[in-house]
Amino acid sequence: MIWRPFTQEKTAPPPVKIIRGDGAYLISEGGKRYLDMISSWFVNMHGHAHPEIADAIAQQAKTLEHVIFTRFSHDPAEQLVENLKPIVPKKLSRYFFSDNGSTAVEVAIKMAYQYFQNIGDPDHKLFLSLEGGYYGDTFGAMSVAGTNSKYHATFSDLFFKTIMIDVPEYYDGVEFIEAKENEIIRKLEKMLGEIGDKVCALILEPLLQGSFGMRLYRAEFLERLVNKVREYGILVIFDEILTGFQRTGRMFAMNYTNVTPDFICLSKGLTGGFLPLALTITSEKIYDAFLSDDKRKTFLHGHSYTANPIACAAACKSLEILRRKETVAKVEEISEFHRANDIPKALKRRSVGTVTAFDVESEDLANFVIDRTWENGIFLRPLGKTIYIFPPYCVNVDDLANTYDIINRHL
Ligand SMILES: Cc1ncc(COP(=O)(O)O)c(C=O)c1O
Repeated sequence: MIWRPFTQEKTAPPPVKIIRGDGAYLISEGGKRYLDMISSWFVNMHGHAHPEIADAIAQQAKTLEHVIFTRFSHDPAEQLVENLKPIVPKKLSRYFFSDNGSTAVEVAIKMAYQYFQNIGDPDHKLFLSLEGGYYGDTFGAMSVAGTNSKYHATFSDLFFKTIMIDVPEYYDGVEFIEAKENEIIRKLEKMLGEIGDKVCALILEPLLQGSFGMRLYRAEFLERLVNKVREYGILVIFDEILTGFQRTGRMFAMNYTNVTPDFICLSKGLTGGFLPLALTITSEKIYDAFLSDDKRKTFLHGHSYTANPIACAAACKSLEILRRKETVAKVEEISEFHRANDIPKALKRRSVGTVTAFDVESEDLANFVIDRTWENGIFLRPLGKTIYIFPPYCVNVDDLANTYDIINRHL
């Protein structure tokens, strides 16, 4: 009866029914334990069924479960903004809620586009983005991932125009990286010379392109890119949906750079993986362009579950846990484990913070290795020829070591 996401139902095995979560583990109906080494699509930062987040949710549910977020506000949303303020760049002071990663991106794209309409500069209609990005499965998010996206090609006739920039992929032992970066910036400069005044915004996943294949590029390149497009008045959107909340070893991937975008998009880990919630955070400059007596300048966008109080309460608790000394130490421990441990047959090994990834020679080999980890109760999910580990922060080092060991034995 159920139609699963991202699943070819004709060939995929039937799903395993999970009845309980316990930290980094999922427990099936038959009592088998599965180590969730991809944090259930990058959301469960603190593992499953964290009792403190569960309690915060229960308490909020008994007080106020939901209310329309137009004429009304509520403490959990206001508190969440207060809690985020110390970790979000000061320049980004306006918080717009929605309820998943794709909608956080749609909001940023629409705000950027309407900003130029509202300030009377409506020719800025094009988007720029990095080849191999992934921003979600709604039409705006698909459009800015470009027509080459392996996920969305079927719909490409319906996309709005986005110009793609190459990515100088970075991995252990990469050669001539600066020359590659210089070449891309040179090409970008030439293109902007021709159409820079027609571009609305650049969107990218800072440092780590997740769903394309856990591909890294350098912070130096990111800074140069942002500084270059800014010369043309182009707005910048950082999708930190996957990279946010210590995933890359810093609170946000942008913290590896000296640049601040005009928008950041947050979701996934925001509630510690308990409930869907998202934020698009932007500056006063953007916000002010929507203030008007002319109603057409209003941002006419919203979702039924905007700023759901229960989700906001979960996010407040998740952030509190994230900022504890013990969690920060766990992030460092996982990061150090990736740095210190070799996968000798890995191709293009790359690691940033709590994420490590590598390629293997073929998709068949990737699937073979993943099948062996599955037999050993470890849940990983390959991305084509790429295998990656993206653990919840509560994972213990023995479980990490066992995962490396099984991978190494079958590569
Ligand atoms: C970087 C990035 N942006 C956006 C999204 C879309 O988020 P959602 O699946 O919540 O719509 C994802 C999902 O994997 C993502 O990795």
